[in-house]
Amino acid sequence: MSRSVALALDEAILGRRSVRRFLPRPVPPSLLRELVSLAACAPAPHHSQPWRFVALSSRAREALGEAMGGAWRRDLLADGIAPAEVERLLSRSRRRLMAAPALLLACVDLSAARPWPDERRRRAERDMFVQSLGAALQNLMLAAHARGLGSCLLGAPLYCQEEVRAALGLPRDWEPAFLVEVGYPDPSYRPRDRETPALEGLLREV
Ligand SMILES: Cc1cc2nc3c(=O)[nH]c(=O)nc-3n(C[C@H](O)[C@H](O)[C@H](O)COP(=O)(O)O)c2cc1C
Repeated sequence: MSRSVALALDEAILGRRSVRRFLPRPVPPSLLRELVSLAACAPAPHHSQPWRFVALSSRAREALGEAMGGAWRRDLLADGIAPAEVERLLSRSRRRLMAAPALLLACVDLSAARPWPDERRRRAERDMFVQSLGAALQNLMLAAHARGLGSCLLGAPLYCQEEVRAALGLPRDWEPAFLVEVGYPDPSYRPRDRETPALEGLLREV
């Protein structure tokens, strides 16, 4: 890899930020397909390809918002949150789902995971597949950034996987994990300052 490619990659890593406000400009489907293809170059256990993406139409987002909203309402009310506050949170979240110029649901497909006889190894196996989805998502977000697009992950589907799977009719082996908003950043959006982490706390040499 040449020095200039390395610098461009560094720029992408340093410059990518979670973007939460977008211009009302559509993301061409071909661009979205390109991002998914690059996501699918991520490392994965056992030479598997355990990532699945669902591009969500407005209709699918409505169904998803309904399903996730129902699950979230149930949880928040059980936590003792006041009903008016629950409805405020739900409508804010639904607005966000509908407003993203493009919205992907990222899932992990566990069908290639080894069916170990004990819980400890099954958990390790599952963790490996889930980590691989993280790598795929980082590819996707960096590739989006390099094309002038912004993105943001939303972890909400992890809290209501059954409801999401049912609302979208997903196969049993697909575990819904993240929503990924993608769009052209609204230049008025300012991400929170990010401190450069001190290496001492992150790296221990033994
Ligand atoms: C696993 C995961 C879940 C996240 N979930 C959300 C979320 O639900 N809503 C949101 O606005 N941002 C979410 N984010 C984005 C983080 O808030 C963001 O990455 C973090 O604040 C660092 O900012 P940066 O991405 O701009 O560097 C999530 C990020 C990760 C990695």
